[in-house]
Amino acid sequence: MDDKVIIFDTTLRDGEQVPGCQLNTIEKIEVAQALEALGVDVIEAGFPISSPGDFKSVVEISKAVSNPVICALTRAVKKDIEVAADALQYAKRKRIHTGIGVSEFHIKYKIKTTPEEILRRAADAVKYAKKFVEDVEFYAEDAGRSENIFLAKVIEAVIKAGATVVNIPDTTGYCLPEEYGQKIKYLRENVPNIDKAIIATHCHNDLGMATANTMMGIINGARQVEVTINGIGERAGNTSLEEIVMILKSHHDLKLKTDINTKLIYSTSRLVSTLMSMPVQANKAIVGRNAFAHSSGIHQDGVLKKRENYEIIDPVEVGIRESSIILTARSGRAALNHHLELLGFNFGKEEIDDIYHRFLVLADKKKEINDEDIKILAGVVFQGEKSPKLDLLQVSCGKSLIPVATVGIKINGEVHFSTASGNGPIDAAFTAVKQLISKTVHLEEFLIQAITKGSDDLGKVHIQVEHQGKIYYGFSANTDIITASVEAFIDALAKIN
Ligand code: KIV
Ligand code: ZN
Repeated sequence: MDDKVIIFDTTLRDGEQVPGCQLNTIEKIEVAQALEALGVDVIEAGFPISSPGDFKSVVEISKAVSNPVICALTRAVKKDIEVAADALQYAKRKRIHTGIGVSEFHIKYKIKTTPEEILRRAADAVKYAKKFVEDVEFYAEDAGRSENIFLAKVIEAVIKAGATVVNIPDTTGYCLPEEYGQKIKYLRENVPNIDKAIIATHCHNDLGMATANTMMGIINGARQVEVTINGIGERAGNTSLEEIVMILKSHHDLKLKTDINTKLIYSTSRLVSTLMSMPVQANKAIVGRNAFAHSSGIHQDGVLKKRENYEIIDPVEVGIRESSIILTARSGRAALNHHLELLGFNFGKEEIDDIYHRFLVLADKKKEINDEDIKILAGVVFQGEKSPKLDLLQVSCGKSLIPVATVGIKINGEVHFSTASGNGPIDAAFTAVKQLISKTVHLEEFLIQAITKGSDDLGKVHIQVEHQGKIYYGFSANTDIITASVEAFIDALAKIN
């Protein structure tokens, strides 16, 4: 059996179906080009009959991307297939992805027909798609809840009709990993012509089992996985590309490979998150902000002794510069000393003990200890030189007004003022801040999250800035999101030495 697992990315189709995540054509091309650089084998570029915008995106992505196969989704309907073929006309390598529901639910209550009719329509759709393209993938919608004997009949019929790939979606994310794996095994053992097609997994995450199910599919013989960046997709999302790729890379025992350039995973994740305005949860595997951050004393000590003690992946492998050791009340002496060394201090054991006691008192009051605090604890900075703080913020903005912001920042006990304009109130305020704290930084991440749903909600802002190759984090929360953003920006700048 082939040792390569084909990566079929559906960020631009299943992922883009998420409410609020819609992209324009230019943005879709940017994502498609990033996916090509990442090394995906197939890009599902859209569902051309669904809207003129989707049609145009499939056309433009086909022109902009050369290496991956470009795939267009259809229902098992002639008109859909014709429109998809038309949208794919410029693709160098093209695929039509057609299909129909096969579970009792879908047959009885959605399509309102009989199993015999489903069999006929499935095979007819594949035959019709074959008139336009050589590469035809068939999806058996809701295969996860379908009866295996009927599913096997449908798969045999569509392969006979010319399907090159057969997709077995767990559309509702219902299957248990063992059950999904057995389904793939059953098809391999009971569909006589199965060796003429590649089996694909397409798992949804409704019960948090999409990655486990996809892995069981692979272990049982599937050689294409349908995935999205950051696991975005309908409802709870799809299997995430980064998780499957890194599982296969970490588990050498499986002897399976992909063509993904893993060093581009993090940047692709951030691109998709930013363009789709879809934050990545902090504890998301592989790409979450905390995926390589250590905060408990025992773990920090272990990582500092040997990274592999608590990390199974080197963050550099996925394009993250380094693991981070966050200083909190749970940190031990080893972590504190590590930070002191990074700041250029070399203290003996007794001095470290002394600083550590003062550190614990401060850490009980403050959630996170920054470099400025450490310098104060180490006695090299006078208390008066504490971090800059926002003292005043005044913005004027609105329709037909040029956004202008004035900031007052307390530095060393004295308030300094600056005014600037920008393309929005935040841009204006950030420019004004930079006039007072002149550090050359690149804004890497800027995330505003509402905690509940009301308009009176508290806005939480996370910022990441890059300065001379190092990342600095800033955080604030306020009912006024512009104030929170400026405070978070100052917080990040204040951490730069
Ligand atoms: O989840 C699903 O079944 C799908 C198909 C259209 C492939 O997205
Ligand atoms: Zn899906």
